[in-house]
Amino acid sequence: MVQDMIIKDRAEKAQDHADDCVIKVRGLHNQFGSLVVHHDLDLDVRRGEILGVVGGSGTGKSVLLQSIIGLHKPNAGKIEVAERDQALLSDEDKKAARREWGVLFQEGALFSSLTVAQNVQVPLREYFDLSPRLMNEIAAYKIAMVGLPAHAGPKYPSELSGGMKRRAGLARALALDPDLVFLDEPTAGLDPIGAAAFDQMILELRDTLGLTVFLITHDMDTLFTSCDRIAVLAERKVIITGTIEELLAFDHPWVREYFHGPRSRAAQKARHRAE
Ligand SMILES: Nc1ncnc2c1ncn2[C@@H]1O[C@H](COP(=O)(O)OP(=O)(O)OP(=O)(O)O)[C@@H](O)[C@H]1O
Ligand SMILES: [Mg+2]
Repeated sequence: MVQDMIIKDRAEKAQDHADDCVIKVRGLHNQFGSLVVHHDLDLDVRRGEILGVVGGSGTGKSVLLQSIIGLHKPNAGKIEVAERDQALLSDEDKKAARREWGVLFQEGALFSSLTVAQNVQVPLREYFDLSPRLMNEIAAYKIAMVGLPAHAGPKYPSELSGGMKRRAGLARALALDPDLVFLDEPTAGLDPIGAAAFDQMILELRDTLGLTVFLITHDMDTLFTSCDRIAVLAERKVIITGTIEELLAFDHPWVREYFHGPRSRAAQKARHRAE
């Protein structure tokens, strides 16, 4: 019942923002040698939404993320972030644009020789010349924001659990108060309770900070609890973007297997609702 209301509320909210896209990808083509990863891929990410991105391993989810944030230069296509064509930006504009988004990479990628607080300060150093006291205050604030205890600040990544590392990575991604956050499999490898807590935190941060979130995941629970819409990568493009209800009704072999297969919690929920 509550789940139904949440889904309805999400669908209505999604409709409200249907025309307000923070990210617009059109005709994206990516190829490595003879391997075509993306062909004629279109994607819209609406302002304020949490968009889940799913697809089999190797379908190009991470390459899509890297293309949007400018780490990978596409072979063809147009990518607009906040109405700016990424291919037309000067280096200076690119640096300014990077300030507006935060990224949590697939492997977390904290600098192992720096403490958590120092990791969070890396983006601050790149953009600002702040006093050590202010840097420490900002780092402490971001560390608290992602639910880490204050004593995590002076710890090195090797001293943290997997879940704490993800939170520290997110604190670093949030260092510059971005509007847009990219997360590449943030709950992979976490136990279900740690993953659920991380999902909840993403929802709360989106609601309090007004973030737009591009969230690559394999985690069915994350899709169900956190995502307003879901984009499915298959056959070198986005074959559908829609609410979980729309995906459950979508007739495509991979989507059917993924959402109705034996491990699908969504399928269980759907069956439960139908009863
Ligand atoms: N720099 C690169 N050079 C050559 N091939 C690459 C490069 N980066 C990615 N690929 C290839 O592109 C394809 C898509 O890779 P990508 O990392 O985007 O997959 P993914 O959907 O994120 O998979 P996973 O779910 O396993 O993380 C893969 O076949 C990969 O081997
Ligand atoms: Mg990946």
